[in-house]
Parts: sequence; structure tokens; C-alpha cells
Amino acid sequence: MPNLEVNIHNLILKNPVMTASGTFGYGQDFGDFYDVSKLGGIVTKAVSKEPRQGNFYPRMAETTSGMLNAVGLQNKGIDNFESVIYPELKKINTNIIINVAGHTVEDYVYVCERLNQLDHVHAIELNISCPNVKDGMAFGTSCPSATALTIAVRKVYHKTLIVKLSPNVTSIAEIAKAVEDGGADALSLINTLLGMAIDAEKRKTVLSTAMGGLSGPAIKPVALRMVYQASRAVSIPVIGIGGIMNGIDAVEFLLAGASAVQVGTANFINPNAALETITGIEDYLNRHSINDVNELIGML
Ligand SMILES: Cc1cc2nc3c(=O)[nH]c(=O)nc-3n(C[C@H](O)[C@H](O)[C@H](O)COP(=O)(O)O)c2cc1C
Repeated sequence: MPNLEVNIHNLILKNPVMTASGTFGYGQDFGDFYDVSKLGGIVTKAVSKEPRQGNFYPRMAETTSGMLNAVGLQNKGIDNFESVIYPELKKINTNIIINVAGHTVEDYVYVCERLNQLDHVHAIELNISCPNVKDGMAFGTSCPSATALTIAVRKVYHKTLIVKLSPNVTSIAEIAKAVEDGGADALSLINTLLGMAIDAEKRKTVLSTAMGGLSGPAIKPVALRMVYQASRAVSIPVIGIGGIMNGIDAVEFLLAGASAVQVGTANFINPNAALETITGIEDYLNRHSINDVNELIGML
């Protein structure tokens, strides 16, 4: 049996596979399919200070080898998270990573300070990269804002701080460095690419918001390229996300420089996708007589 354990700063993951924010709810819904404690970690849907309604329907559209979404960070806010969702998450025996969204620095700081008090929250993932809300990318597309937000959160959050980057930038290396300079412990990338779908018959955009975030296999080559560039620009660990459907896709991200991966859109197609990604990595290691998954990281 090869070793699958990897480290992301102080987080010890039993294997390198997590689920991506917004594609796995808060973990419970998938409990009917398999024991979600087998995952290396679960990244929750975004949690914000106040409840958010999300955008009007239609807010999802299928595209060639992918999908567009404009869900808009819908969630019930931190109070509901703490009283209703958190007690359920405590029953899951793996790393729980809370994705955090906000309109202002103060919003992010408020939520992260509250999450810092909760023992079974092992890390936070700062979402500075949502393309389908009005101010969702404000912090993730400017280096000074990304650094300032990371510094502010770092002061109140003392466990593992992951910052999730947007691909909608000119230089991923620069923004990665800016976030590292702000004190992040790890980076995750990529969030969705800003895209659009048009219904020619109706002469209308498909999504109510006109534009939305593109995800799925269509974005994998972009994600691989960005993980490759970002991991060479920083010395903190990078978590690879974007179009991962199976173990081989995950191995490609590890080779590109990721220390772990997240499975997103694939969960909508096959609810067992994340679990099968773990066994796929294990099969690859066995086939190549590699004893430790860490040997793959950045091996390209
Ligand atoms: C329906 C949907 C909702 C999402 N919600 C969030 C979110 O709340 N926070 C976030 O950081 N990313 C969110 N994402 C982005 C994913 O976590 C991931 O970064 C992206 O989809 C790329 O990975 P994939 O191609 O494996 O899906 C969402 C993606 C989808 C498809």
C-alpha cells in the first residue's frame, strides 16, 4: 500500500483529495453515497457574514466539456453555520475547511475570527475569486488588495489559512506571490473562469446574470498551467483545482506542482468522483511502483 498522506502547512491529509467549494454542500448530502471521512478534506460552500440569496434563475448552464454557474455565493450566513451546520460537520472525521466570502475586509475578518474559535474547523479557504457576484473578484485581481486582505485575516485566524485564487488575472505568479507575502499558509487554484452562454433562438443570454463561472474538464489545461506557474513562484503549498474527473487528472496536477487537489464539477456527474479519484491515484502509484504520493509533487 503506497503512502497517500500529504501535508498542507499544519494540516495532515490522509490522502491528497478534497472536494471543491460549492460542489459538495457541507458534506452531509454525499453521506448517502460513501463515507465522506475517507476524503483528505471537505471544503464547504462559501460562508459569509450575512445570509445571501444568490442570483436569480437560470443560474446554471451546461457547456461543451463543462458548465457555467452564477449561483452567487448563496448561503445562510455565519450564525446559521455555527448553530446548524457546524454540529453536523463535527461528526465527520476528516479535515473541515470553510470557504469564506465577504464584501469588505471587515466582513472577512469578522467571519474568520468566529471560525478561529471552532475546534473542528481545521482551515479556512478565503474566496477572493468568485466571478459571479458583483464584487466577488475585487480582492483577487489586484495584488495590493489581495495582500491587504490576507494580512488582515492573518491577524485573527491562527490555523491553516488557504487563499483561493482567480484565474481571471494577467499574471497568476504575481498574485500568488502577493498572497504569500500577506502571510497565507497555502494557495488553492483555480476558481472558475469568467464565461458566457447565449441562446441564439431566443437571442438572450442563458444565465440571468449574463456572465458566470466556467468549470469542468474544459478548464483543466488552464488550471494545470496556472498551478505550474504559481507553484514555481511561491514556497508555500499549492492545491490544484479545475476539471479533475479521476485519479489520472489528479496525478497531472501533482506533477505540475500541487501538493493536493480538489474535485468540483465531477461531483455533479458522478457523486463518487472524489472517492474514485483517491483509488485512481493509488492505482497509478501501484502501477508505477511508487511508494509515496509525495514523490509525485512537482516531479515534472
Ligand atoms: C455550482 C458551483 C458553485 C461554486 N461555489 C463556490 C464557492 O462558493 N466558493 C468558491 O470558492 N468556489 C466555488 N466554486 C468553484 C469551485 O470550487 C472550483 O474552484 C471550480 O468549479 C473549478 O473546479 P472544477 O472544474 O473541478 O469544478 C463553485 C463551482 C460551482 C460549479
